[in-house]
Amino acid sequence: MNLSKDMEGYLPRAALEVVWRISKGASQCGERVYLVGGVARDLLLGRPNFDLDLVIEGDAIALAQQIAELFSVRTSVYSKFGTAKLNFGSFTIDLAMARNESYTKPGALPDVSPGTLEEDLFRRDFSINAMAISLVPDSYGELVDPCHGLKDLRRRVIRILHHESFCDDATRIWRAIRYEQRLNFKLERETSRSLKENVAMLNTISNDRIRHELNLILREEYPERTLCRLSELHALPEINLSLEERAWLARKFQEARFQYKAGSLAQLYLCLLIYPLTQEGLTRVLHRFNMHGRRAQILRETLNLKANIFLLEGQMLKRSEIYHLLKNYPQVVLQAGAIASDVEAIRSRLNLFLSELRLVAICSTGDDLVRLGIPPGLEMGEILEQLLDAKLDGKVKTLVEEEELATELKTTRAGTLRARHRKSRI
Ligand code: CTP
Repeated sequence: MNLSKDMEGYLPRAALEVVWRISKGASQCGERVYLVGGVARDLLLGRPNFDLDLVIEGDAIALAQQIAELFSVRTSVYSKFGTAKLNFGSFTIDLAMARNESYTKPGALPDVSPGTLEEDLFRRDFSINAMAISLVPDSYGELVDPCHGLKDLRRRVIRILHHESFCDDATRIWRAIRYEQRLNFKLERETSRSLKENVAMLNTISNDRIRHELNLILREEYPERTLCRLSELHALPEINLSLEERAWLARKFQEARFQYKAGSLAQLYLCLLIYPLTQEGLTRVLHRFNMHGRRAQILRETLNLKANIFLLEGQMLKRSEIYHLLKNYPQVVLQAGAIASDVEAIRSRLNLFLSELRLVAICSTGDDLVRLGIPPGLEMGEILEQLLDAKLDGKVKTLVEEEELATELKTTRAGTLRARHRKSRI
């Protein structure tokens, strides 16, 4: 099957130009280069994919450097793995030498040695990811499909290439389900059996690798489908979701998509995913996915908000009170809280804060207060805060009104201080 015409319709013009240059550059050095993996699969499915993976039977880094120079783009080189990445802005190209892999023990990274294209395809996860398109000039566009990926694509199945696949690399358990759910395919019978048999092998995967896979799931269009299916298969032991929780998650993820843009969803999804957990459950998750720093803090804050969210149900809450209850939470945590809660008063107050209150600012500056005779320091800080509260509650609107209130507050404070002073002398 020749796909050169399909490539023309599928790849952006600029990408085609680069691919053609790479093909030419490689053949001048007597090397053979191929488009592989996801891009071949997606081209055949007609799904957009702008992360082009290329495999070369030869020196990938030298070729990448030559192309980077020609197109004046940045290249990241990973000498240890013999790979390089070229970033063209609207698309990227990953170049790797064709390799052979062997696994010394389950879950470990494989031992890698140079190999042929066929060896490179046979080491891959699933047949639909083990196809290549030749960029060699005299076979340009020919599909290379030794694992019968095209047949599986047509049958709409995910199939591993050998029995040890999930045991060698248990991240493939998550990957299999991710593709199954993304493409609405089925697991081939043997693959399904092997997957279920090897679920415990997920324990052989390091925390960093499993976190990487979780991030990939969270970037899917409908991550809840993969997460729920993994949970059903007991392949997501850290976040064990009951049937009810799965339905809840599906509803809440849907709502998140409805309200926020695709680019900002991954973190929000994660907050919603851990929302049903206890503090101990979250501690286990943070450990398993080796999450630290700001990301871990956001998840902790999510459970803190959950624990205190009932405070937002108060009947007579002033806008300034809502502001103070919520001002220290990261925005994404509040978004998660608003989506997660089913109590209308809570949701509307969280949304009020997000859309309005957090943006309220007073007109006065410290300098304005100094002009009114309020010196910098504790007193000024308190007066500024009172001005903000007044603004939030609609008691002042303009700079003049703020200055009037600041003067009034200053006078009252001075009076109170004088009274206190007199009392202490008596
Ligand atoms: N691969 C593999 N085993 C893994 C990870 C990746 O065999 N554990 C191979 C697959 O052939 C895959 C390719 O490496 O197609 C590139 O991996 P990745 O970029 O993760 O996948 P894509 O196929 O590009 O898919 P996606 O659309 O999810 O990015």
